[in-house]
Order: sequence, then C-alpha cells, then structure tokens
Amino acid sequence: MKINLKNHKDIQCTNSVNGIFVFKNKCGVFCDGLNKTLQSLKEAVEFSGKKDEVYTLANITEGSMQKTIFIGLGDSDKFNVDIMRNNTAKLIKETISQKATSIDIHVNQIDSNMDKIVKAMVEAILMSTYKFDKYKSDRKDISLENVNIIFHEEQNIEDLEAAVKEGTFIAEGNLLARYLVNEPANNLTPAELANRAKEVGAACGFEVQIYDRKEIENLEMESFIAVGKGSGNEPKLIVMRYMENLEEKDNILGLVGKGLTFDAGGYCLKSPGNMWEMKSDMGGAGAVIGAMQTIAKMRIKKNIIAVVAACENLISGEAYRPGDILNTMNGKTIEILNTDAEGRLTLVDAVTYIIRRENATKVVDIATLTGAVGRAIGNAATGIVSNDDEFYSKLELASKACDEKVWRFPTFEEYKEILKSGNADLVNSTGAAGGGAITAGLFIGEFVEDKPWIHLDIAATAFSEGKPNREYFSKGATGIGARLLYELAKIY
Ligand code: BES
Ligand code: ZN
Ligand code: ZN
Repeated sequence: MKINLKNHKDIQCTNSVNGIFVFKNKCGVFCDGLNKTLQSLKEAVEFSGKKDEVYTLANITEGSMQKTIFIGLGDSDKFNVDIMRNNTAKLIKETISQKATSIDIHVNQIDSNMDKIVKAMVEAILMSTYKFDKYKSDRKDISLENVNIIFHEEQNIEDLEAAVKEGTFIAEGNLLARYLVNEPANNLTPAELANRAKEVGAACGFEVQIYDRKEIENLEMESFIAVGKGSGNEPKLIVMRYMENLEEKDNILGLVGKGLTFDAGGYCLKSPGNMWEMKSDMGGAGAVIGAMQTIAKMRIKKNIIAVVAACENLISGEAYRPGDILNTMNGKTIEILNTDAEGRLTLVDAVTYIIRRENATKVVDIATLTGAVGRAIGNAATGIVSNDDEFYSKLELASKACDEKVWRFPTFEEYKEILKSGNADLVNSTGAAGGGAITAGLFIGEFVEDKPWIHLDIAATAFSEGKPNREYFSKGATGIGARLLYELAKIY
C-alpha cells in the first residue's frame, strides 16, 4: 500500500473514490459544489457530521461511478488526534469493504498539529488493512493500493514525510505483534517465537541471542524452567539488544514480555470454554518484539534490551505441581499454590536476568497476567503497577501519544503481606483474596532490586473475540503494547 501526501492546489481531483472529514459545526469547508452537497445532505437529514457518522454518496456521470464517503468528526472543539486516528480507520475500513483500489482523503480545517495528525492517520490506515485470515482457503487480498492524503490548507509536504515514516513503522510494529499473537500455538512454539525474533533483528538491525534449555538451567532460572517442564517443546530465553546511545551506556531500558506460547493452566487446568484463547498468552512478547522492530527501524538514539522467557504451560509426568517449592535466579524461593499463576514465575527470572546480566537500569514488564485485571477495570485500559512516580509519568505521556490507555493500581502494604509464604519466601497465588491484578504485579516487584519499574497487565486488552474497542483493531489480537512501548522508549 502506498500513502501519498499532496497539497490540494497542486492536483486535479479526479479519483473516483473520495473520503471527506466533516465537522458537525463547521460549514463551507470545501469547494462550492461540495459545500452545496453537504448542505443538501444536512437538510435531508442524511448526514450531519456528528462523530463516527459514515455516509457514502454515489453518483454516475457519463457512465462512470464516483463515490464520496463522508465521515463525521463531531464538534470541532472536542476534536483531538485520537478522533482522527479512529475515524481514519473507519474511512479505510469502509473503503476496503467497497473494494476501492484508490482513495483521496480530503483534510481541511484541522487546526491541531499536522505532524501528529498525519502520523495518526498513517498508523490508522495501515493498521486497518489487517485481519487474521492466513489460514482461510478463501482469503482475498484487499484491493486498496493507494491512499492520498490531500491538504486543502497548504502544508510543507517534505516535513510531513517524517510523520508518514514514523506512522508506518509504528503500525508495522503493532501488526507484527498481532500477527504473532494470533498465530496458533501448534505453529508458534517457543523455538518458532525465537526464530521470528531473530528474523526481525536481522531485518531491522538489532542483536538477538537465544538460550536453550541447558543454558537456561546454567543461569539458574529454576522458576522459569519449572513452568515449561510439562511441554515437549523446549523453552527458549530470547534476548534482543539495541544499543544506540553509547554516550549514555549506563542508561538502559529493559523490556520483559511474557512469552507463554500456550497456557493450559498446568495441573490447575483451565476450563475448556476459552482455553483456546491462551494462544494469546505471549501477548507481552508480541508487544516487545513489535516495539523493538519500530525502535530499530526508527534508529532512535537509545539503549533498549528486551527479554522473553518463552515456554508452554502444559501437563505431563514432568510438569510442576501445586505444593512444589522453586528456587529463582534471584535466590528467593516460591511456593506454588496454583500452576495457572505461571506467568509471574517466568517473568521474575527474566527480570533478574535483564537486571543482572544485561544491566538494565529501568525495567518494564508486560504480560497477559491475570483475569483479575479485566474484572477490575475492563478492557478500556491496561492495568499498571509501578514503584516509581517519575517513570510512571513517562508512561502516561507515551499513553497519550498513542491512545493506548493505562490505569495505575494502588500498592498498599496489605497487598504485599499476602504474598508471603509459610513454607518459602513467596506464594505464587493469593487465591481468593481479591486484588489479583495488584498482587500479581507486586509479586514481580519483589524481584526488581530497587530499579524504577512499571508492570503492564494486558490480559484484558491484548485479545478481543467480540467487537474491538478501536476502529483500527481487528478481531483477535490487538497488538496492544507495541505502540506504547515504542513511545516510552523514545522518552524513558
Ligand atoms: N494467562 C492467564 C491470564 C489470562 C486470563 C490472560 C484471561 C488472558 C485472559 C494467567 O496465566 C492465569 O491463568 N492467571 C490466573 C492467576 C490465578 C491462578 C492467581 C487467573 O487470572 O485466573
Ligand atoms: Zn495461567
Ligand atoms: Zn498465563
């Protein structure tokens, strides 16, 4: 797909499909003919420009069809970049469903920062082209090839090309995450996830090192190893290194992504109804790999290390059991009360590894960690636990830049108390105590060794079988986290 920027004054508007954004409260925004059309539509109560309204007008002149797709932006004083991102997606989805090959998108009277608008539009255009259909025999490629963004108020096109580039790389990072998360676990094993990370590293310019089972055992990651024991697929520790700020070598952002390529629950087996969705239990890994792709393609001047402890939580004669007591790379011991609370066991060893072996100075972990996060705040936002206000304020800025919402939980001592075990240092599950998203986060916090740290629980935001809550999302994986982590990496 090609995205082109053009000034209206430099071109002839001859495309047979046009997309027009219209504010509800602004009239006379385009050429005379179009203004009259809009006026008539308004009078006929066909289209008024209210937010999320879509209306297609088709007419035939001299035997050829012309279509105009009107999209309502709502009130101009409530307008923001997120509205533009969502509505661009709406327009593109409509265009794709009408099987157009090319569209001119007309932009006028948008007073906000045009850089941000173009970046968001490009993100939306590309993200809207995806759906998970690679295993369907009757899948068809989309016909849309050309998207022209046409400015009615003259812009410096050369300056805006940078926004096109960034928006493109951001969208591609998000789509990579979705692609990985939607992939079924029979095809995306820990070894295959490691291969994909290697391919991305080779293509985009970052180093990838893969540790096999023996090497993971040598690192004394007993907790991580235990989780993968029930699977015939060997665990892999995936390490991605991008060091592009050599003046500040001691400022390293560490990203840890949960990489359960499947989570059956182990002996605390999940019920069958939604178990298949646990192919998405490497959503955190998808997010960090997607973010690393964007980071490397943008060549940002930062130091970022990402680690994924990839394995599968199944059942066999080798599998770990409730009651087992495990050692960790950090040295703290864990009593297993629930084999389905496995993510945190893999994450704590990955966190220790990234701090002690890769010298990360700030740590972010991202994980499809708990069902409890969705019960607490639904799927509107990703749940956060953090030990550092300043670091968290950076995440809030990143969140505003990409409209992936976050919500920070409290971290009272009462929650930490119930993580203590009578038989070991920590329990891996706080059972029916409530606040499960918080205690799961704080469990990981026990291993961050005073580093500024942010935990993102994306269990409710990474995958949606129902209607997604953004126009640019597709059914299944949302790729949540990839855009957010990239925006954080720029400013950490
Ligand atoms: N992978 C799940 C969490 C999850 C649930 C992700 C729903 C996506 C959708 C995690 O490993 C898990 O099973 N968590 C348990 C923890 C409990 C046993 C303390 C849960 O949430 O029930
Ligand atoms: Zn689980
Ligand atoms: Zn899990």
